[in-house]
Amino acid sequence: MNLNLEIELASIRMDNPLMLASGILGICPSLIRRVAAAGAGAIVTKSIGLKAREGFPNPTVHIIKDYGLINAMGLPNPGVDEVLEEFKDQKFSVPVIYSIYGSSPEEYSNVAKKLLKLNPVAFELNLSCPHVREVGQMVGQDPEMVYKVVNLVKSSVNVPVFAKLSPNVTDILEIACSAVKAGVDGIVAINTVKAMAIDIDLRKPVLGNVYGGLSGPSIKPIAIKIVYDLFENFKVPIVGVGGVSNWKDAIEYFLAGARAVQIGSGVLWKGLNIFGEILSGLRKYMQGHGFKRVEEIVGAGHK
Ligand code: FUM
Repeated sequence: MNLNLEIELASIRMDNPLMLASGILGICPSLIRRVAAAGAGAIVTKSIGLKAREGFPNPTVHIIKDYGLINAMGLPNPGVDEVLEEFKDQKFSVPVIYSIYGSSPEEYSNVAKKLLKLNPVAFELNLSCPHVREVGQMVGQDPEMVYKVVNLVKSSVNVPVFAKLSPNVTDILEIACSAVKAGVDGIVAINTVKAMAIDIDLRKPVLGNVYGGLSGPSIKPIAIKIVYDLFENFKVPIVGVGGVSNWKDAIEYFLAGARAVQIGSGVLWKGLNIFGEILSGLRKYMQGHGFKRVEEIVGAGHK
């Protein structure tokens, strides 16, 4: 049977529906090439801001075996001008989506406008970092602010704009609604869940920033429910993220309504082979169930 794993996300054509999630591997052209060679259909960069940020003091990552990891990196990045320098004249074999953050609609829009020089295929607005107060969460938990950010970025660029939402809000559908009303081209769900760990011998929080965001297998059921609800309520494409560690996880997301899935902490557990492994499981599943295109599975869990 002829299988087609291609997918269209807003106007982005991807060879397959697997993406590298923002943040897991930094911002570096050679790394992007390695992930593309490993089979990712698209890549999202670590979030980029107007100015360089050093990030939080160590430890910034705490691994909880079999559950996932808590991170509080603090949005370290070299700042948009340095990224422009490093990425100029670079070509990639897969779509590269630039993740951006800011503290105001104007800041998001300024970062996006500068990055247009790199001919990005799309932007992902990080509206959801759970532990950097003045950016991430402060922006992403306020429906009016989300509207303003999406609206201004949309009017400043000519490529699709995705909004990455936080689960750390009372009603994520209200936030999604603001993004949709402002014309967002797709929703990415979800960023990490606020979390912390305490060292019982030292009797103090493990992370340098005290708390951070939980990702990995333990948040997958939360994310699946959110993707399911988003699919029931909105027509824009949804990208699922949170705890994708194998092909069954990816298929669960498609059935819930995601058109593509992002892989983040799964890369830490399995390395870049995770992309090939999931693609081969996806092919077998499609063959076994008589599906020819991934799109046939998207939302098929809504009965
Ligand atoms: O700390 C960090 O850099 C995490 C960012 C995020 O979760 O968006």
